Amino acid sequence: MQPLDPIIVAQLDALMTDETNPITVLSNASALLYDAMADLNWAGTYIYSARTGTLDLGPFQGNVACTHIQPGSGVVGTAYDKQAIIVVPDVHAFAGHIACDAASNAEIVLPLSQNDQVFAIFDIDSPVLNRFSANDREVLAAFAATLAKHLDVTALNAIY
Ligand code: SME
Repeated sequence: MQPLDPIIVAQLDALMTDETNPITVLSNASALLYDAMADLNWAGTYIYSARTGTLDLGPFQGNVACTHIQPGSGVVGTAYDKQAIIVVPDVHAFAGHIACDAASNAEIVLPLSQNDQVFAIFDIDSPVLNRFSANDREVLAAFAATLAKHLDVTALNAIY
């Protein structure tokens, strides 16, 4: 499996320069990532909604997905609660994994935060077991940090 080229972080940064609409930013970030990695079936976002108290489906690429995830629930809700990146080599071995798409076998979730406050989760799924390497994790952590930096969280919260 080809490791994820770190150039994607600079591409994201360039693509988002002067872009202020958070839905536009999240949409193209999902598309950029989905195109850059082989063997994915989903890449996108869950955004914390203060209105519903759940992580609600945001812009993504891939199949129809679960719409509301409770904090603490599944891989996404666990990453939100723990404020930590979670790599799941085999989703069937992760207690509480939420199967939105039966094709998923591996997953990585990355919290998006500003000022130590997590406001969304970037989620990537693959049908290939053990899809996400330590190198991928490192590049994706930089991707998530750059994405978070480009987001107008106040504008995002006004929508969600
Ligand atoms: N599998 C995730 C749910 C989201 S979908 O993968 C798009 C979870 O366990 O939280």
